[in-house]
Amino acid sequence: MKVTLTVWRQAGPAAQGRFETYELDEVSEDMSFLELFDVLNERLIAKGEEPVAFDHDCREGICGSCSMMIDGRPHGPELGTATCQLHMRKFADGAKITVEPWRAGAFPLVRDLVVDRSAFDRIVESGGYITAPTGSAPDGNLILIPKAVADSAMDAAACIGCGACVAACPNSAANLFTAAKVMHLNLLPQGQPERWERVTNMVDTMEQFFGSCTNHGECEAACPKEISIDFIALMNRDYIKAQFKQRRLASQRG
Ligand code: FES
Repeated sequence: MKVTLTVWRQAGPAAQGRFETYELDEVSEDMSFLELFDVLNERLIAKGEEPVAFDHDCREGICGSCSMMIDGRPHGPELGTATCQLHMRKFADGAKITVEPWRAGAFPLVRDLVVDRSAFDRIVESGGYITAPTGSAPDGNLILIPKAVADSAMDAAACIGCGACVAACPNSAANLFTAAKVMHLNLLPQGQPERWERVTNMVDTMEQFFGSCTNHGECEAACPKEISIDFIALMNRDYIKAQFKQRRLASQRG
């Protein structure tokens, strides 16, 4: 098949960006979208031109690094699919495809399609972990967890931190990402000792970098792991409860 790619090129954060158009023929419909970029880059290198910079690591939908806006949609046209798992057969022969980096103030552009998503790391650093010494892995049957709770925690833990939720949101809010990272711990018994501190710190850190959620729901539609916005409601409930709990704890401390 043949495709025409229009790709955002920008040599660095301060450089002037522009769209460049590339015609590619003999594209296999079994190629992934990243393999299409591999082919493009081989051709650019052979011509002595700069290859297109893009992030990738696992190419299995696990690491969340293959972040691209494809025809105005994070990760492209297929629902529940990361860019690395999107195949060219999803596009028509002769398709004209526009590819851009994530556009969000909290994700400054590094080069071409690569953005700096370290604002996500700041959120996780502020509470996305358990500090209690847990020893070696216990027998799975020693801590009984209702199946519905375990399933829900696993659904939240599916977040790969790609940033599609932020890129899709008109407010550049990171509530879906933060909710997933808070709730996969707050739902489980192991997450209870730091539950209120965790949600307070992670939401407060999120608000330093990202916009506010106004319930558009674009994040859920764009998420390659189809994480539900119900987790945002659960996080908000925990955040509000935490404010009362913190006040009570503070008054008890005198
Ligand atoms: S390269 Fe890892 S999720 Fe796509």
